[in-house]
Amino acid sequence: MRNRWIKVLGTGSSVPDRVLTNGDLERMVDTSDEWITTRTGIKERRIAEPQETTATFALRASQRALQEAGIAPEDLDLIVVATVTPDMLFPATACLVQKELGAKKACGFDLEAGCTGFVYALAVAEKYLLAGGGEKALVVGAETLSKIVDWQDRATCVLFGDGAGAVVLGVADEPGILATYLGCDGNGGSLLELPAGCSRFPASFDTVNNRLHYIKMSGNEVFKFAVRVMEEASLEVARRAGISTQEVDLFIPHQANIRIINSAAKRLEIPEERIFVNVHKYGNTSSASIPLALDEAYREGRIREGDLLLLVGFGAGLTWGSAIIRW
Ligand code: UT7
Repeated sequence: MRNRWIKVLGTGSSVPDRVLTNGDLERMVDTSDEWITTRTGIKERRIAEPQETTATFALRASQRALQEAGIAPEDLDLIVVATVTPDMLFPATACLVQKELGAKKACGFDLEAGCTGFVYALAVAEKYLLAGGGEKALVVGAETLSKIVDWQDRATCVLFGDGAGAVVLGVADEPGILATYLGCDGNGGSLLELPAGCSRFPASFDTVNNRLHYIKMSGNEVFKFAVRVMEEASLEVARRAGISTQEVDLFIPHQANIRIINSAAKRLEIPEERIFVNVHKYGNTSSASIPLALDEAYREGRIREGDLLLLVGFGAGLTWGSAIIRW
């Protein structure tokens, strides 16, 4: 019997004040509230101001999570920020957060696994603490996708939004994270990519003129992959945790599209009242989506002590990941 577990000690989140509605988007591209609502479930999303960066929201979410956990920044051993929109390629956004928090003894790095980033970061931090790397970790999912969205491309610009969520993890002698499962398949990499700005296509006039610094996505292909992998990843992590998905008290899936969420829940036989949804308010916030949903669910009283949570995500890479947590 194990006597060392990793528990979530506190959660926090932060989103920009500015709201962009479907009605606003109707005035920007050839789209309609009706199309966006029926195809995605999204009604509005939050958009960062020019001076606000991913670290802005990562920091606020982290401060709230630390406060909720009753943990001082100086006690953190590890900071992982999952993001596809770091403030810069380097230094890592985790280091910017570390500095602002004053987390003097923590090491920190960014982790990029598309929209699955937070679940990857959660699993990595859990394993790091279990292996004896320290006692406390801060895991953040944070994005300012509005800065890499092509505001002329109606197929993608209606989907994404900005925000951040964070959790503080700590070593405990009773169950917390019961199991995690991660996977990737680079064969699907071209289905969702941001082509330029790094070693393949360094920034040039051509990359700018060809709009290669923006998200490119084959939406329908990603949709089919998502529906399949959400079910597979959920079943595999439930098997590892020794539970059935019908026992899950709250299902917190990546918030990309209400149709993907409902179809996965149906296949997993999870009833509607046990699914947490906030995609209508924030759109797809990539790495931030699951921790933002987790924090809202907790603050709304949807999570009680002892509850079994199922977190599952998918995204660019292609990647997928899932976790079962005993709260
Ligand atoms: O976190 C991972 C990131 N990615 C995702 O989660 C995305 C997964 N994919 C999806 O959510 C869906 O595929 C979308 C919401 C992106 C699209 O829904 P769809 O049912 O797969 O539509 P579609 O791409 O097959 O497009 C249907 C039609 C097309 O018109 P035609 O070719 O049938 O005439 C599009 O041009 O809808 C058109 N369309 C739009 N119309 C109005 C595409 N975007 C828009 C739009 N407004 N914003």
